Amino acid sequence: MRMLNGLGITAIAPIAYAAVSYIYPPLAGRKERAEQFITDNPDKLFRGKNYATIKLGDKDAILFKKQDNTFEAMSLQCTHAGCTLLWQEQDNQFHCRCHGGIFRRDGSVAAAPPTEPLARLTVRHVDGTITVIDKPI
Ligand code: FES
Repeated sequence: MRMLNGLGITAIAPIAYAAVSYIYPPLAGRKERAEQFITDNPDKLFRGKNYATIKLGDKDAILFKKQDNTFEAMSLQCTHAGCTLLWQEQDNQFHCRCHGGIFRRDGSVAAAPPTEPLARLTVRHVDGTITVIDKPI
């Protein structure tokens, strides 16, 4: 009987490990890959504006085209409680509808309750292709 119990655990352990590492990869030592947004057609993305909202997995972000033809991206997740921010071009600010937080164009806090600035994201621009990575600068 004792031998059967030992065999049972031996048989179940790899299955349990696979299930747990699938649900929670860091336990298996695997790094999660950062979400990316890639476009090779910036003109279509921006449509004459200097900004475009984009998706990084299930998160929203904004990509700005600057006057010197470089790009800058920021998370649109409010640092207070994670609501999605709205870009108000006329005010040059991000507004949060959840609790009234406001952020300036550079991501700094303009009005509480948030206390932390917006996350600036990694942008690569190579040979006309723009890649935004959900990885803070
Ligand atoms: S979640 Fe944005 S102000 Fe609270």
